[in-house]
Amino acid sequence: MRKNAISKDTTDGPGRRRASRFPARPRIKVGILGCTGIVGQQFVRLLEGHPFFKLVAPSASPRSAGEPYGEVVSWVLDGDVPRSARPLEVLETDIARLLATGARIFFSALPAPIAGPLEKLLRENGCFVFTNASAHRADEDVPILVPEINPEHMSLALTQASRWGGAIVAGPNCATAGLVTTLKPLEEFGLNRVSVTTFQAISGAGRRGLAALDIAGNVIPFIRNEEEKIGRETRKILGRAEQGAVAPLPLEITASCCRVPVREGHLMSIEVEFHEKPDTDRVLSSLNGFRSRPQELGLPTAPERPIILRTEEDRPQPILDAWAGSPERARGMAVTVGRPRFLGRSLQIFALVHNTVRGAAGTCLLNAELAFAERLMPRPGRSNGGAR
Ligand SMILES: NC(=O)c1ccc[n+]([C@@H]2O[C@H](COP(=O)([O-])OP(=O)(O)OC[C@H]3O[C@@H](n4cnc5c(N)ncnc54)[C@H](OP(=O)(O)O)[C@@H]3O)[C@@H](O)[C@H]2O)c1
Repeated sequence: MRKNAISKDTTDGPGRRRASRFPARPRIKVGILGCTGIVGQQFVRLLEGHPFFKLVAPSASPRSAGEPYGEVVSWVLDGDVPRSARPLEVLETDIARLLATGARIFFSALPAPIAGPLEKLLRENGCFVFTNASAHRADEDVPILVPEINPEHMSLALTQASRWGGAIVAGPNCATAGLVTTLKPLEEFGLNRVSVTTFQAISGAGRRGLAALDIAGNVIPFIRNEEEKIGRETRKILGRAEQGAVAPLPLEITASCCRVPVREGHLMSIEVEFHEKPDTDRVLSSLNGFRSRPQELGLPTAPERPIILRTEEDRPQPILDAWAGSPERARGMAVTVGRPRFLGRSLQIFALVHNTVRGAAGTCLLNAELAFAERLMPRPGRSNGGAR
């Protein structure tokens, strides 16, 4: 435990309190780029009452800018628009306007073509950007970070910060988030080859993503660039960080991706071939017992169990399991796995990930919590960004 850690109660989202290892201090001002989209809304929800961060700079396109958030957003999540966000003016996504708010940490939920140049500009202005967009995931010095899987890759953010003043830390593609979480505890048994077929929810395509006529009662066996992203990103996340870059894991991965008429939650059928036949009990207990750095640190959005192994014959299911994870703040952050079947050297298993929480906003927020807890980002004094 950290030297300055104290045991203290901190607000943990609506109606719930959780013991915190982090001392109360002024919360850090943060912004959300693309605050009106599906992922942006998840950020707004997750930042309500957050113990480290306070939303001061929500931004979106000129279509939404200039209006109070509560009036302009078409809220698609359960419940109402969080109270503290409602009166905030939605800003234009303009560098000068964003910096004028005093925020130096930004969560990005922008379309990739807009995110690319803006995120770089923010980095050059000393900001830390935790992004869902794919624009910089392939950059050598940008980590694709899932705190339970490759927390040591955060060292790349420090390399960036020494060069630019700020850093970009990317979250993975939504399906990749579920795949790497399932694979990490299996790595010790010697991965030889991975094959995955995904059944991905409509919300993965964003608010204006798919025409109802195309997807209602239908399955579309194609998602542009998705299969390539899953292979490339999984190899990078499971790779080794050395000298300011990542050496990807040389693992054969094939993916087939479908869009299905499900609102939220990407289901995937994964086949893992090991070098040798593993002990089946050990494989299952490794999945079920998986814990990592965010759990050790007690980060606010970390699920107590990053993987939940279901034993029923018909789980996981999007409707029943997409919101898996506890405590309350970590709902949707656990990956649910089920139906493990062993055949020779291979394991077949289903996994389910909440695509806009663990697959997007939740992981990016957890990345920021890790950077904060590990003291990698500038901390505010009352004069430089602190906010109660
Ligand atoms: N959905 C997922 O499951 C998922 C998972 C992982 C990663 N991602 C990535 O996360 C990002 C956001 O995805 P999403 O599903 O939330 O998309 P979305 O629902 O389409 O939201 C896009 C957001 O970007 C804003 N925006 C659009 N054009 C803009 C412009 N020219 N200038 C400034 N803001 C602009 C929109 O504002 P207005 O409302 O004002 O138009 C909206 O707030 C994308 O890069 C996506 O690939 C998504």
